[in-house]
Amino acid sequence: MQRIFSGIQPSGIPTLGNYLGAMRNWVKLQDEYDCLYCVVDLHAITVWQDPRELANQTREMAASLLACGIDPARSILFHQSSVHAHLRLAWIFNCVARMGWLNRMTQFKEKAGKDRENVSTGLFTYPNLMAADILVYHATRVPVGDDQRQHLELANDIAQKFNFDYGVDFFPNI
Ligand code: TRP
Repeated sequence: MQRIFSGIQPSGIPTLGNYLGAMRNWVKLQDEYDCLYCVVDLHAITVWQDPRELANQTREMAASLLACGIDPARSILFHQSSVHAHLRLAWIFNCVARMGWLNRMTQFKEKAGKDRENVSTGLFTYPNLMAADILVYHATRVPVGDDQRQHLELANDIAQKFNFDYGVDFFPNI
């Protein structure tokens, strides 16, 4: 069975956009696929977060996912920071992805704006962690909105470069 991975930022109580754009779809996918759903608290800290607030919002997002119909008997629902392998693989991907690739990410350009010298380096390497989220589970299907398409293509480029550089066929195509 194909494995699905998707992540959502812990923005507390979800917006209608979260529901229509992601959560509703995630619930349906459980019928057909082996699904892993993740509240990406480590992605959230690419911009400053109050630690207590972040912990609350992460729990609230997980609770909302359960309320919307994510079924823990069929799917895996977890907080990103609870599985250390994401960060370990993200470091390896920091050493695989090229500066030029990340420089082309439109989301980084939009978020950094004129403040490029002053944003966290995590905001820049954000897509490498996202690639690690997916590839650590060898997931092959990733339901995301259009704004995340470019990050998915980057994840594929990283997987292919890793396989090529190390002469292996380890990571699948997404
Ligand atoms: N970057 C995604 C967003 O902002 C969230 C995310 C993090 C994600 N890791 C992921 C989505 C892995 C899909 C797969 O919406």
